[in-house]
Amino acid sequence: MLLLSFPMPAHETSPIRVLFVCLGNICRSPAADNVFRHLVEKAGLSEHFEIDSAGTIDFHRGKGPDQRMIRAAKARGIVMTGQSRPVELEDFSRFHYILAMDRSNLSDLQQIRNQVENPTAKLQLFCEYCENFPHEEVPDPYYGGDEGFEEELNLVTDGAEKFLNTCRQKLSV
Ligand code: 4NP
Repeated sequence: MLLLSFPMPAHETSPIRVLFVCLGNICRSPAADNVFRHLVEKAGLSEHFEIDSAGTIDFHRGKGPDQRMIRAAKARGIVMTGQSRPVELEDFSRFHYILAMDRSNLSDLQQIRNQVENPTAKLQLFCEYCENFPHEEVPDPYYGGDEGFEEELNLVTDGAEKFLNTCRQKLSV
């Protein structure tokens, strides 16, 4: 019998599902969500991704992104959309990647994951993908001035670009 072998993609499933997570889901994770979405659209790869964001608290549930974040992103040609929602247990089996903005978010996510029977998501710090900045966490700009939002967008863009490269390799696109 003749066996034809085809190279198996590292990811057998497309779309790749990605969830960005911070505390309130109104500043950092919506920024990562919308910047990554923007890069994916620019690359013509939208069909290959499902992108969302969530918070570890539900205090801001239903609210849109912070107005300062919206303004800073708009100046870079990025439209910020979405409504805050808390992380759900189902997220750990639905998403391939869950990327936490800081260590506290990561620790909270690990606690939540302990309640899930078969968690399959790869849980990582977002900054594992940053190359141009030494940061290990995305600083929270919520209580600071406008410059914090600019720094955040720079950092998030760096990580989102490198994460997209990783995904492109896995998808061979
Ligand atoms: P985020 O920022 O986690 O980046 O969305 C925050 C938003 C709200 C609060 C803290 C951080 N808060 O305490 O309400």
